[in-house]
Amino acid sequence: RPRVLSGIQPTAGSFHLGNYLGALRQWVALQDTHEAFYCVVDLHAITVEQDPKVLRANTRVSAAQLLALGIDPERSALFVQSHVPEHAQLGWVMQCLTGFGEASRMTQFKDKSARAESAIGVGLFTYPILQAADILLYQAHHVPVGEDQRQHLELTRDLAQRFNSRFGKTFRLPEPHIVKDTAKIFDLQDPTSKMSKSVPAGVVELLEDPKRSAKKIRSAVTDTGREIVYDPENKAGVSNLLVIYSALTGRSVDELVADYDGKGYGDLKKDLGEVFTEFVTPVQAKVAEYLADPAELDKVLARGSERAREVASRTLARVYEKVGFLAG
Ligand code: TYM
Repeated sequence: RPRVLSGIQPTAGSFHLGNYLGALRQWVALQDTHEAFYCVVDLHAITVEQDPKVLRANTRVSAAQLLALGIDPERSALFVQSHVPEHAQLGWVMQCLTGFGEASRMTQFKDKSARAESAIGVGLFTYPILQAADILLYQAHHVPVGEDQRQHLELTRDLAQRFNSRFGKTFRLPEPHIVKDTAKIFDLQDPTSKMSKSVPAGVVELLEDPKRSAKKIRSAVTDTGREIVYDPENKAGVSNLLVIYSALTGRSVDELVADYDGKGYGDLKKDLGEVFTEFVTPVQAKVAEYLADPAELDKVLARGSERAREVASRTLARVYEKVGFLAG
């Protein structure tokens, strides 16, 4: 079975609809065909300042959401990044292989550092290199992510190739698994920028009161027209709602457009609010169940990191040998 790896930051506590439709839904589906490794990336989270208590709580909340959304710990290794020290260890080796200019070109760093409220740490700069290590440790064939991670995946491939050509074939070159239709879910208040946890208005959170989500959906920014059609260029808001609706129901955008012929934006928004509520209500109930038993949750994560370490330690040992470290 081909391997898959992906990660998500625990920073916000609640995941949002962009995370789910852009990435997590694919994580769940790929379990059927792949040997899967999924991690909550706490090492990445501390690239910006975190309150330790909040980080610890949010790491559990993140794991609970992944389980509630359908990650099956019997089939997939579900783990916390810091529990597998090989991530940081390979991260260092990969840093030594990365050009300063190459790292400087990462647009996510440019965006994040431009928006940062406090001092910018070096970790934010080397963030994508650690991400490359996450992926390469598991010799992943595929990496399910949203469009915003594409550049990091390209860096990962470049670094893998560079290592292989300098030290001999060691890493598999991973392919991004980006599902075009939902690769970029947009902010409800600003449908020209991506839904993102750093911009709270317009973000539909999986763990907020669904009534609040339905209200956000009802007040989503659309346009002054009346017709419900899919036209991302001229009708970004409506098109985004159609994409979300389609993804949550499995009905095609064309079908929805036909159904809503003659109806108004208000109808579409109201119905989508209901569709979302129906989707998220059982998810929230499951999250609450998992969080009610943190000891069991920690056990699941411990098992996951054990499985992950088996693979990760093998890769790291080969890497250490190839770069010329003395066997320990
Ligand atoms: P993160 O935690 O920001 O987001 C998790 C996943 O959600 C996707 N995503 C979106 N997809 C569609 N529309 C959106 N508006 C949207 N917002 C977020 C992201 O693309 C991502 O797939 N650097 C990564 C975490 C990471 C990782 C890895 C991913 C660390 N190591 C190794 C893959 C492989 C990140 O910050 O994702």
